[in-house]
Amino acid sequence: MEYVKAFETIVKEQLERAERMKTAPQSTDYKALDKIIVGIIDGDGIGPIITQSCKKIMEHLMADEIAAGKLELRDIEGLTIENRIEKMETVPADVLAAVKDCHVLLKGPTMTPGKGDNMPNLESANVKLRKELDLFANVRPVSIPEKNINWTFFRENTEGEYALGSQGVDINDDISMDFKVTTTIGTTRLARAAFEFAKANGNQRVTIVTKANIMKKTDGKFLSLCYEVAKDYPEIQVDDYYVDITAANLIKEPANSKFNVFILPNLYGDIITDEAAQIQGGVGTAGSINQGGRYAMFEAIHGSAPRMISEGRGQYANPSSIVRAGAMLLRHIGYGDQAAALDNALDEALDALSMTSNSTGNSTDDFTEFVISHLK
Ligand code: IPM
Ligand code: MG
Repeated sequence: MEYVKAFETIVKEQLERAERMKTAPQSTDYKALDKIIVGIIDGDGIGPIITQSCKKIMEHLMADEIAAGKLELRDIEGLTIENRIEKMETVPADVLAAVKDCHVLLKGPTMTPGKGDNMPNLESANVKLRKELDLFANVRPVSIPEKNINWTFFRENTEGEYALGSQGVDINDDISMDFKVTTTIGTTRLARAAFEFAKANGNQRVTIVTKANIMKKTDGKFLSLCYEVAKDYPEIQVDDYYVDITAANLIKEPANSKFNVFILPNLYGDIITDEAAQIQGGVGTAGSINQGGRYAMFEAIHGSAPRMISEGRGQYANPSSIVRAGAMLLRHIGYGDQAAALDNALDEALDALSMTSNSTGNSTDDFTEFVISHLK
């Protein structure tokens, strides 16, 4: 029976992955590097427009470091849907090799073929990169000062429904099955990153989000492991909620301002962070870190907006999400002052300009120039 074989393969691969995780590097000391290489990946749709906007801003901001050879912004070609389909690879081998020569990555949105797109059923390039580079924590901050909201989401990024999302099986014409996986090491390292963050930021409250009453094995394990890690942080207040009521609580004022750090399995983290970003002002306003031990990838949390391109509105794309991610990148590699300058200029641009995504508002170029001229 084909499906039994398929399941056997899945289990074998997951056992191997769990072994690999045990020996993976835990962190990178950027200060010890002579030169930090930032790979710039444009992506699809509005990706090249917004990513190059961010690159241009970073070239200005980091001109001295680039001139001194301490920082390189390196374009990585070929992570486009056309090239991926031509090679029939989710991330073509030469692109992956180029990516692995970098230390950190700034990535524009990439297109993922879905049912009805009339394209080969390639896996999401994002998901593939997260898995290949073992980027286990997806960190997504949301802040709304006027409502006293300061949330940081730690979304598990390599497991859950996503680990096996492309390896589901059609048992027969009637039945299709997907699989979800949780590992001890995968959960523990995420929880530790979240608690360390909470501790470093004044012992913020930590909330664990699952649906452990229904997904008893995978979410059950996730929940109990997070509480296990919590024992090492007795000064931190910890609680847990199911994902459905979490979705409700995020819009319940003023209780929502009492939450700080969230730990979530992959799929719930995907959904809840879109909601949170919308509360902040839209998915275009949030940045995202995909953090691993050896690599880290920074990206916008929105998609490639193919409609903007087909309707000829690409030049009005709002680059603020990827520029925010650029600031996070700089902070991550040790350039905190420059990151703060970029955040400030970006806030000013968001106040001063009107990014409507069409000719009624400002263009991407207006935005780029405004940010560059307000860097101080
Ligand atoms: C995100 C996106 C991705 C995800 C897609 C593009 C695969 O929605 O980063 O949240 O589902 O993780
Ligand atoms: Mg998402």
